[in-house]
Amino acid sequence: MSENKRRTAVVSGATGFIGGHLAHTLVNAGWNLHIIVQPKSDLKPLAELLPEIHVHIHDGSTAQLMGIIGDSSPDVVFHLASLFLAQHSPSNIEQLVRSNVTFATQLTEAMIQAGCHCLINTGTSWQHYENGEYNPVNLYSASKQAFEAMLIYYLATSPLKAVTLKLFDTYGPNDPRPKLFTLLRPVAAEGKPLAMSAGKQLIDLVYIDDVVQAYLIAAERLLAGQVSGNEHYAVSSGRPLPLRDLVDIYGRLIGAELPIEWGAREYRQREVMIPWQKGKRLPGWQPEVELTEGIARMILQETKECRINQ
Ligand SMILES: NC(=O)c1ccc[n+]([C@@H]2O[C@H](COP(=O)([O-])OP(=O)(O)OC[C@H]3O[C@@H](n4cnc5c(N)ncnc54)[C@H](OP(=O)(O)O)[C@@H]3O)[C@@H](O)[C@H]2O)c1
Repeated sequence: MSENKRRTAVVSGATGFIGGHLAHTLVNAGWNLHIIVQPKSDLKPLAELLPEIHVHIHDGSTAQLMGIIGDSSPDVVFHLASLFLAQHSPSNIEQLVRSNVTFATQLTEAMIQAGCHCLINTGTSWQHYENGEYNPVNLYSASKQAFEAMLIYYLATSPLKAVTLKLFDTYGPNDPRPKLFTLLRPVAAEGKPLAMSAGKQLIDLVYIDDVVQAYLIAAERLLAGQVSGNEHYAVSSGRPLPLRDLVDIYGRLIGAELPIEWGAREYRQREVMIPWQKGKRLPGWQPEVELTEGIARMILQETKECRINQ
């Protein structure tokens, strides 16, 4: 990309798993990158990018965010910041609303004030429990819907265009989140038994590189003026598998007998047994990394890094 055509992105949630991968990809593709973080955010996972990017520490106010967006003047805002809670407790309410509704609304307001009209928002398939038009699995997914309700106002009163990518499960190397493969790693390494549910729920897993690609394609769509309103797309593999099968595949590829205690835990309240199937696929995007290939890549990468660090 030549300097005079260099595009500018603002990314929220860049210290997270998906946002971190997106940040690396944008920088490698020549984008001028600004990230918005919290005072408590750990920048270590982004250490090698820091000399090349602009880091803005948000103090929580709308006024400061307006300054950040005004000064960065982004072509596209990639909004991935979110507090994820599978199940909430009363003490989580303020933080959940602050991260998933207030911050997202402040960001949109700042975009409008700065004349920036291309937003990629991140939703979840969990807004659609049992294939509902809107039926939240939990309060986290309800908070995602609440922000989309705020967006409707901005779309009606400004030139804002948005793409909401609704993610399913995501995976890849060095995932710090307490997701399936993170839990299985010590089980494989140490043979420590793990209590799980009966494992019949279907899981729709998309490899991290494919997820990042969906964000890039959505950005192109916005910049090409092809988006109207808030378009919603499902970033789905289209091939969900039962949890038990996923564990079998992982065990086979890592070459270990996994001592899983199936049925030792109850299913969660409103466990998603069959993921949302009614989402539209983003035009020009399809998952390229097949599940076995993705898991093998993940294991290979983690084994290599483990050897280097020893
Ligand atoms: N399975 C999935 O992967 C999945 C499924 C559906 C939807 N999603 C959505 O995809 C997006 C990325 O997910 P992820 O798994 O990569 O997330 P993650 O690893 O949990 O990271 C969350 C990010 O959001 C930031 N954040 C939280 N509250 C914030 C606030 N108030 N102000 C600024 N930043 C804040 C965090 O900053 P700190 O570093 O300071 O904590 C972190 O960078 C999220 O919107 C998530 O809801 C993910």
